[in-house]
Amino acid sequence: MPRQPHAQSPSTPFHRPQRRPTPQVWPLAAALVLGASPLAAQDPIDYPEGYRGWAHVKTLTLHAGHVLADPFEGIHHVYANPPAVTGTQGGEFADGSVLVFDLLAAVSEGEATAEGKRKLLAVMVKHRGRYPATGGWGFEAWAGDSRSERLVTDGGASCFDCHTSQAQSDYVFSRWRD
Ligand code: HEC
Repeated sequence: MPRQPHAQSPSTPFHRPQRRPTPQVWPLAAALVLGASPLAAQDPIDYPEGYRGWAHVKTLTLHAGHVLADPFEGIHHVYANPPAVTGTQGGEFADGSVLVFDLLAAVSEGEATAEGKRKLLAVMVKHRGRYPATGGWGFEAWAGDSRSERLVTDGGASCFDCHTSQAQSDYVFSRWRD
């Protein structure tokens, strides 16, 4: 594997005290929590069938009490399809790149923490021509294990709003590690 060409961020991506999530983020959070499911306004994005066989980029656990715990408390696994792997390694995210954010409940038992139920599955699909308003990325999310209950209602605007902090890496937080 190519070595990671850029420096690791010094803190977790969620720890950004210099920039609090903007108020527009919270309606999204509420929608995720309530499981709202109106139709997406943008080009429909396909459920990323088979993503569990893709490359695992990273895992992060977000604990209760974090400013984003509602709705992001739990275990985060990030997966990338082959073109997206190149992007997480510092290359270009070519059209067709797909990234998956798999959010699972964290279940603590004794001194161990295990994966619980899936809370939601979020994806970003790169297609410059199709999603010019959101950095060339299409954003979508599905509630729990559902493949039909879509959560994004604003064409991805509120997802993109938070991801803009990562403009220097094409709006993607996760970096490849050796
Ligand atoms: C409040 C900020 C915030 C909002 C809102 C947000 N994200 Fe993210 N997203 C993150 C962070 C931080 C990560 C890094 C993952 C981790 O560390 O767990 C991430 C990671 C991702 C990833 C994996 C690729 C990457 O950038 O690392 C996808 C896919 C993703 N988010 C999709 C979405 C979708 C779809 C929405 C809207 C439904 C959304 N996100 C809304 C902060 C946000």
